[in-house]
Amino acid sequence: APDIPVANVKAHLSQFQSIATANGGNRAHGRPGYLASVTYVKNLLDQAGFTTSQQSFTYNGATGYNLIADWPGGDTSDTLMIGGHLDSVTAGPGINDNGSGSAANLEVALQVARSGFQPDRHLRFAWWGAEELGLRGSTAYVNSLTSAQRSQITGYLNFDMVGSPNPGYFLYDGDNSDGTGSGPGPAGSAQIEATLAAYFTSIGVPTRGTDFDGRSDYGPFIANGIPAGGIFTGAEGTKTSAQVTLWGGTATRFDPCYHASCDTTSNINDTALDRNSDAIAYAVWTLADGGGTEPPP
Ligand code: PHE
Ligand code: ZN
Ligand code: ZN
Ligand code: ZN
Ligand code: CA
Repeated sequence: APDIPVANVKAHLSQFQSIATANGGNRAHGRPGYLASVTYVKNLLDQAGFTTSQQSFTYNGATGYNLIADWPGGDTSDTLMIGGHLDSVTAGPGINDNGSGSAANLEVALQVARSGFQPDRHLRFAWWGAEELGLRGSTAYVNSLTSAQRSQITGYLNFDMVGSPNPGYFLYDGDNSDGTGSGPGPAGSAQIEATLAAYFTSIGVPTRGTDFDGRSDYGPFIANGIPAGGIFTGAEGTKTSAQVTLWGGTATRFDPCYHASCDTTSNINDTALDRNSDAIAYAVWTLADGGGTEPPP
């Protein structure tokens, strides 16, 4: 799997910051900074050869948008989706939440195109609207599919907050190895968790589980039995002293600017953003094509 240049991911974050600054300080549902964010991502994907579609939905009297980007090729009955929410709260520009996942996924998608990756599975990337108002965009998307279309989505990877300034490395707990929460994810979620875990093991970074608690856009996927997984570096919670021993940082909040005006380009840990971008690429290459190293048939 390729090494994702973190400078490119950070360049996307600078663009999201500029978009927010030019549009009243946020990129929230129903505000102009949201649609400008969609347009920024869509133009890059169109230029790279993706087939994109902008799906509209209505929530709270405002039009919301999902951006869906298909990479041509692969078995569409075995589609791997990669997504994250592109909207911010109204309080600020939302650079960690969730410019980080949006930018990392964008750069992985662009790397798919640059490398001419032709995996066995079909790849579909998504940038969701109105997550902050209750997973509205991802729910509208899943509900818009027929049951036959839903059954073609055989995995969903979610990235929401992957550059927290005082980061932890949490993987959605697909196997419920910690025995907490509402149980394991749909069958196949354990394999996704294990794939991400293998990447972190390879770079010597420990991970811990985080329960599927319904707080991000994997919710409507697992509710429909679609296996899911992803990475999370922490939000309003406080890092424990045991977690400081594990990961470094300080025994303070993972993201002190969570849902605040200070969630700017200064609110990013570059090392976490770099590691997690590479982990996303590793998971996409491994899950979609056995690492991309199979000999031709
Ligand atoms: N979805 C939450 C938000 O956008 C953050 C979050 C992500 C919480 C992942 C838990 C797990 O505010
Ligand atoms: Zn949020
Ligand atoms: Zn979020
Ligand atoms: Zn687990
Ligand atoms: Ca658990």
